[in-house]
Amino acid sequence: MVNTPQKMVIVSGIQPSGNLHLGNYFGAVQQFIQFTEGGHECYYFLANYHALTSLRDGQRLCSLTRSTAADYIALGLDPDRCSIYLQSDMPEVCELQWILTTVTPMGLLERCHAYKDKSQQGIPSDHGLFAYPVLMAADILIVSANRVPVGQDQKQHVEVTRDIAQYFNNCYGDVLTMPEPYIPESVAIVPGRDGRKMSKSYNNTIELFADEKEVRRQIYSIVTDSASVEEPKDPAESKLYAILKLFCTPEEQVHWQDRFRSGGLGYGEVKKAIFERFMEKFGPARARRKQLDSQPEYVDEILKRGVGQARKVSLPLVRKVREVVGIPNYE
Ligand code: TRP
Repeated sequence: MVNTPQKMVIVSGIQPSGNLHLGNYFGAVQQFIQFTEGGHECYYFLANYHALTSLRDGQRLCSLTRSTAADYIALGLDPDRCSIYLQSDMPEVCELQWILTTVTPMGLLERCHAYKDKSQQGIPSDHGLFAYPVLMAADILIVSANRVPVGQDQKQHVEVTRDIAQYFNNCYGDVLTMPEPYIPESVAIVPGRDGRKMSKSYNNTIELFADEKEVRRQIYSIVTDSASVEEPKDPAESKLYAILKLFCTPEEQVHWQDRFRSGGLGYGEVKKAIFERFMEKFGPARARRKQLDSQPEYVDEILKRGVGQARKVSLPLVRKVREVVGIPNYE
């Protein structure tokens, strides 16, 4: 799908939460890069308004937003081929969000997991969390996106976006483009060090930009069973293999599967291979990331250019939306 001849509009938002990990890379960033290289029209932004629903420390949010932008640029999002920007630099997103809230049934949002999980646990939530999916719908619809590469946990939000777009179009005509989530089967879930899904909230990640000693510690702490070196092992059952596989070509996967099955392979050797592959794959990005720390103006310049490009499509869309709902433009 990434390499379809038909040119598509791609959008995805990134929460500026810092400490990017392997799950983020294989679950999302890799797809962002593939879409960009496939020649599609790509918009990737830092969702700093969304971040406000969980982070209430202004200085920290501001510095995280910047450093997360630098992380993505270092990983290979090419600012010459895609637009990278801050959500907050496109104020018409909030305007579209308001208009969308007026066609969004309460019941649709009550079913959304972030809000529902909290309220079921009896934790009071704020309106920001409740309205979170509508802001996300605005992010997506404002660039008329066709595909939204996201992790499995965001699938529901893209489906809600489709519902909202449908309600709007039913009411006002065919103005908004129906987006589809893009979640490739093969990389949908990256296991963490404890075998559960890799996630910052489980504290089981392997971080892309941690210092080398810490990366080694994280990789060597991936849980394994107590099988001896001699024992044959089932790669399908091994979380270690599931992580190693991410770095391997199909031929290499077959090679490692054979080695697992035939015995004589110790877990230490597999961890060493993962560490080496990790450094080989992310070494250049890690070096670039260090360099970007000393070039903050360069990152600012990319974000500025990115929002300039994105607004070339967002402003006309919002103008059209205003027109059909009956809000005049006097400027
Ligand atoms: N909610 C997404 C997440 O937590 C981030 C996000 C915000 C997003 N707006 C978006 C993703 C629009 C895709 C499209 O990961």
